[in-house]
Amino acid sequence: MTEETIQAAEPGIFDTHAHYDDEAFDCDREDLLAEMESAGIKRIVNVSSSLETTRSTARLAARYPFVYGTAGVHPDEVGELDEETFAWLEQRAQGEKIVAIGEIGLDYHWNVEEKDTQKKWFVRQLQLARKLSLPAVIHSREAAQDTLEIIKSEAEGVTCDLHCFSYGVELAREYLNRGHYLGIGGVITFKNGKKLKEVASYAPLDRILLETDCPYLAPEPNRGKRNSSLNLPLVVEELARLKGVSRERVIEATWENALCFYGMDA
Ligand code: NI
Repeated sequence: MTEETIQAAEPGIFDTHAHYDDEAFDCDREDLLAEMESAGIKRIVNVSSSLETTRSTARLAARYPFVYGTAGVHPDEVGELDEETFAWLEQRAQGEKIVAIGEIGLDYHWNVEEKDTQKKWFVRQLQLARKLSLPAVIHSREAAQDTLEIIKSEAEGVTCDLHCFSYGVELAREYLNRGHYLGIGGVITFKNGKKLKEVASYAPLDRILLETDCPYLAPEPNRGKRNSSLNLPLVVEELARLKGVSRERVIEATWENALCFYGMDA
C-alpha cells in the first residue's frame, strides 16, 4: 500500500449526539441517512438513553459505516437498572463501534426518578466508563451543582462531553479547566439562546463538540420541526460568527475535537 491509500478521511461535519433510532425517523430513516455523506455529514454518534436504545443503537452502528454508538441509561430511565441489567450494559459497552458511555447524568426538571436513584446510577456509569477507558456523554438539566460535584469526585480519568450545555460561563469554566468538552447544538441559534452564545464565545474552539440531539432542538429557522444532522450547517454558521472564524475552520476544529473526545481515527 502506498502512503496515499492509507490517508485519513478529510474533515467533515461530525454530529456527536443524535438519536436516529427514535420513532420520529421510522418513516424515512434509510433515505435520510443515505443523504448524509453528500451533504458533508461525515460521521455520526448515535447516543443511547436506555437498555432498549443501547440495543437499537448497536444495530444502527452495525448497519452504517459512518455511524458509531454509545451505551448508557439516561437519568429518566435509571429505574430499569439493577445489578443484572447493569452487568448486561457493561457487556454491551464493550461492543464493536461503541465509543462512549452515555447519555448519563441528572435531570431534576422532570424528576422521573428519585434524586438519590439518579445519583447512584450516574456514579456507577461513570465508574464503568473509567473501568472501560471510555469517555462519557453527560445529560444535566437543572442539576448544576450535583452534576459538578459528582464529576469532580467520580470522573477522574474520564473525559466528559457536557451535552447540550445549558449552564453559564462560570460552570463552563469549571468543566473546561478539568479537560472536559461542551456539546453545542441548535439552541445557539435561538433568539433566547443568549447564555449559550456567551458560553460559545468564551469556550476555546478546540473544546466544542457539534451536536444535534435530533430529532429534538432543530436550529432556527427550523425550530420546532424534526431535527437532523442536515441542519448542522446552521449551527456551524452561528459558531463561525461568534468566534470570528470561517465555517471551514469550525468544521475542521469540531471534527478534530470529536475524534479526540471519542478516541477515534479519522
Ligand atoms: Ni440526547
